[in-house]
Amino acid sequence: CSKALVAPSLLSCDFSKLAIESNEILEKGADWLHVDVMDFHFVPNLTIGPCVVKSLRPHTKGFLDCHLMVENPEKYVTPFADAGADLFNFHLEACPSEESILALISRVRKETTMKVGITIKPKTPASAISDSILSAVDMVLVMTVEPGFGGQSFMRDMLPKVAKLRKRRPDLMIQVDGGVSPETAYACGKAGANVAVAGSAVFKAKDRKLAVETIKKEIQR
Ligand code: DX5
Ligand code: ZN
Repeated sequence: CSKALVAPSLLSCDFSKLAIESNEILEKGADWLHVDVMDFHFVPNLTIGPCVVKSLRPHTKGFLDCHLMVENPEKYVTPFADAGADLFNFHLEACPSEESILALISRVRKETTMKVGITIKPKTPASAISDSILSAVDMVLVMTVEPGFGGQSFMRDMLPKVAKLRKRRPDLMIQVDGGVSPETAYACGKAGANVAVAGSAVFKAKDRKLAVETIKKEIQR
């Protein structure tokens, strides 16, 4: 598959310096900025919403990869498009049916310029993503921790799902998120992932540039 990307999760940065941290990490080699949106309903945590994305937007050219861990993702399309998000990635588990997922994907495409992604939690099998969904999205995210918090341990047993999806759609962007680090990125890449989200492994590193570079090298090794 195509060149690998590293998307540091801003959840682990210093929120009081959001724009500075964002641009610094891009200078250090990050490809995207991963924005974790949590609503205290879909996951037991509350983070940032469209207002924060809107205030960050004029301060960075970075690609804003928005991961929506929320109920009723359809309510977020217009707010995130207006805020300047580049990718609208929502959870399969937050939707009642395949039809509703397909409808949401076409709505994002019709009404906005955002790319679209679909995410599955650890307990959701790769087969829950139908062929129609798989061919309609730009990216699939396979969670490698239970969503809700940064700093958890990587679930290696999620990688067979990545391999199955890669086989079904060789040209797809496949993202992994949760516990991804210089140590675990190689296995992710080997399974077929080409977009690595990493929060603590990047922002808590002594040398952030080295962390970004190593994760990128390992995932495409
Ligand atoms: C978890 C979030 C992740 C998280 C990753 O719910 O979706 O993006 O911030 O953090 P680390 O890399 O520390 O596991
Ligand atoms: Zn995330």
